[in-house]
This record gives sequence, C-alpha cells and structure tokens, in this order.
Amino acid sequence: MLELFPKSARVEAGELTIGGVPVSRLADEFGTPLVVYDEASVRAQARAYREAAPDALVVYGTKAFANVAILRLLAEEGVGADVSTLGELAFARAAGIAGDAIVFHGNNKSVEELRAAAEAGALVVLDAPSEVDAAAEAGVRRVLVRLTPGVEAVTHAAIRTAHEGTKFGLSPEAARAVVERARERGLDVEGVHMHVGSQLTRIEESVLAVERLRHFLEELDWTPQTIDLGGGLGIRYTREDEVPSVADWVGALLRELPAGVRPILEPGRSLVGRAGVTLYRVGVVKESGGVTYAAIDGGMSDNPRPQLYGARYEALLATRAEELPTGVYRIAGKHCETGDVLIDAAELPEPRPGDLLAVPATGAYTLALGSTYNGVPRPAAVLVADGEARLIRRRESVDELLRFET
Ligand SMILES: Cc1ncc(COP(=O)(O)O)c(C=O)c1O
Repeated sequence: MLELFPKSARVEAGELTIGGVPVSRLADEFGTPLVVYDEASVRAQARAYREAAPDALVVYGTKAFANVAILRLLAEEGVGADVSTLGELAFARAAGIAGDAIVFHGNNKSVEELRAAAEAGALVVLDAPSEVDAAAEAGVRRVLVRLTPGVEAVTHAAIRTAHEGTKFGLSPEAARAVVERARERGLDVEGVHMHVGSQLTRIEESVLAVERLRHFLEELDWTPQTIDLGGGLGIRYTREDEVPSVADWVGALLRELPAGVRPILEPGRSLVGRAGVTLYRVGVVKESGGVTYAAIDGGMSDNPRPQLYGARYEALLATRAEELPTGVYRIAGKHCETGDVLIDAAELPEPRPGDLLAVPATGAYTLALGSTYNGVPRPAAVLVADGEARLIRRRESVDELLRFET
C-alpha cells in the first residue's frame, strides 16, 4: 500500500513516517484532521514535467490546492500557475509568480477578473464569443482561444470538459470567429487551448483532441506561437488503479504538436495529489446491521470526493502499520449525512478509538473542495521534508466561522 503514499513514506517501528517525520508527531503537534504534503514528491513531479517538456511553460492547476507555500515551491522548480478566479490569481501573486507564468481561465470571467488578469500581464484564455470585447476593454493583451475538441474523456462525468455540450470552450466554428474578432480588436492571439478532463488514465482521447486541434489550425492555415494542452493526468487512488507516467503522457501529446510551437501544460492533480496524505483520529467504532463503522474526526467537509465523484480510497492505521488486516471496516465521517462515508470497505487491523488513520492520495481536490459543513472548521496542512514539518495552512477555528455572522 505504501506505493499510494508519497515517495518519502516509510514504515519505521510499525509507524508511518512521511518526509522523515513520524505521523504521530505531526498529529500531536498540529492536530487532526491534518493534510500532510511531502515536499520531495511535489518537487519530483514538477521535475518530471519539466524534463518531459523542456521547452514548455508548465503551469500548476491551482484549483487542485490553492496554497501559497506549494505555489512557491513549484515556482522554485520553474512552474507557473493556471488560475481561474480572482482568488486563485491572488494566491499566485502572493507566491511571487510573474504574470508571464500565469494563465487565466474561467467560463464566466467577471470584468474585475479580466482587469486583474490584464494588470498582472497574464495570458487570458477566451472561453466565449462575448469575452473578446470584454477582454479588450479590460486591457487584456495576450490571449488564447479555448477550443472544444468534441471528445468524451473516460472519467467521471463531472470532470469531463471537452465533449460537445460542455460549458467550457468554443466549437471549432465559434472558435474561428473568436480568433478573427480578437485579432480585429487588436488582441495578440498567441494560440489555442484545450483541456480534455481530469483524472484521465488513458491517453487516447487526449491524442484525438490534439489531432482535432491540429485540423482546426490547418483549416485556418495558422501555425500559432503557443498550444496549451491543459492538464488532466490522473493519479492512483487505489492499488487497482493504473496511470501512465508523466514522461509517457507528455511525450505522447508533444509528438502530436506541429513543429516550432511552444507548448503549455497545466497539470494539477498529478503534481500534488500523491504528495498529500490526510491523517484522521479514529473515534467511535461500532456495529450496525452487520457493518463495523470506524468514525473519523473529519469527512465530507475536508474531502467531498467520495460524495462528488464516487471516489474510492484506501487507508492505513498509521501507528499499527505492520499489523495484518483482521476485517473490513466502513470509514465514516462525523457529518450529519448517511452518505458521509470516506471509505466503504477498508481492510484494516481492528481500529480502536484514538488510532491514527492515514489516507493517501489526498493532496488534490480535497481541501480545495472542502467546506465548513456542520460548522466544522477546515483542517490545517503541513509540508514535510528532511525530518521537519512546516505549517502551510493554519487550522480554522470556530471563532473564525462566527466572524462572518451578523
Ligand atoms: C483548464 C484546466 N486546466 C488544468 C486543469 C487541471 O487538471 P488536473 O488537475 O486534472 O491536471 C483543469 C482542471 O480540471 C482545468 O480545468
């Protein structure tokens, strides 16, 4: 199971360590639930992208986990930011990322967002016919046009983004009109963008999308400066999952590009997903209708992926990591919904109140999608490396939740 955990994860004297730090120390010092990020894993993934595509601009899909420390760390590895709101732009700027390493997305950008993107000097991805004039008036200079290649990604329907009928991007006909209109308005149309979907484990649909993108360009007799291939590479959540390597994924896509074009890549999940492990404290353990529940001190407020996408996870009892499983347990959250189940059937040694449960592959789209449902403050996050842990997101408090009340 360690293969689902970050690269630095080890079991020492029966206890999980990440970045050389025993997890019980992390839980004692920072509390639970806690999202632990392994610095070495984030850096290694960034380097894998940079090595697979040395001429590309690699930008982090900030939506996976908007965090200033992670953005800074990625910037040190030469990675910029893909942002899609004012808030994500603010995170990227706070991390010191320069405007020319920022790509600004969104299917419904506000005037304020377009102005902020223009001020930052970001590359703006046009997503609708009406956005050409809005962008020009907001002072935007550099743009891409988002093409909907009409392919069905093999992933959960909620994270498919390139099929006909999606809310994202423009059909080839509409994209052509947007290119022409943008040029008329004096915008610098640097190229075309596509993004097929997220948690992709097969390359075929993405290759087909690039073929369609090339066809679109040929019809316009246009060799653009830039082609943005989006993100989407998946990660392993369970031992059954198989995913291509970064090198294979990127290599297969780059092979399809016309010569002389600068690629942009926008990985999110594959940069930070495996780097993150969530630690929970087990509370109540009880039987109900033949099922043994182990309840944790978090749940759908810190990780709603099981409810949103039917996501599956595995888990380890982190301080009894060498004990063999004795049964199958349902890991339930503490929220007031029957559906607040993190893992339907986890094979574990019998959990006891006070045990630490470690859930791997929780670095992407977990805290980022989190909420304060049931008045539960959002957890903290730490970054670990070389036996040291650093707080990168402070735990919210109930007092802070009350601050919004009038
Ligand atoms: C336009 C765009 N680029 C990049 C990403 C990042 O995707 P992923 O985290 O799957 O790599 C997304 C997320 O879906 C996106 O919408």
